[in-house]
Amino acid sequence: MALRQVRYKEDDVLYKECKEVKKFDEKLGILLDDMYDTMKKANGVGLAAPQVGILKRAVVIDIGEDRIELINPQIIETSGLQTGTEGCLSFPNVWGEVERPNYVKVKAFDRYGKEFELEGEELLARAICHECDHLDGIVFTSHVIRFVDPE
Ligand code: CO
Repeated sequence: MALRQVRYKEDDVLYKECKEVKKFDEKLGILLDDMYDTMKKANGVGLAAPQVGILKRAVVIDIGEDRIELINPQIIETSGLQTGTEGCLSFPNVWGEVERPNYVKVKAFDRYGKEFELEGEELLARAICHECDHLDGIVFTSHVIRFVDPE
């Protein structure tokens, strides 16, 4: 396990579309473990592979419940709407209000290539949307309705 260098807002890698994961091998497991450690170290609740410079469709999320890994995730259902303050490890000290669905259902693969579905509400729904956006080169600042002063 190792920490990886987080990429920040000026970095082109954050604005590119990521490629589908095809090999569910040991290298993928190492990437996910490293991403998890990097996220925890920075007190984040989610991290996408491009944020550590890897253009692959892989994210890790931990909102304080379970460790979640989503490979090649696809949001297949959404409902409701929530507005809340969001941040991103690639944008230190930037906070803004973002509208997201209040509920999402996502289809993804685990690190061994097994497909599963996951439902999330509120913070988990927000995290899933935020991290899936990263895989398409979309950063949260493009959704911000109103920036909030950091305190
Ligand atoms: Co982010």
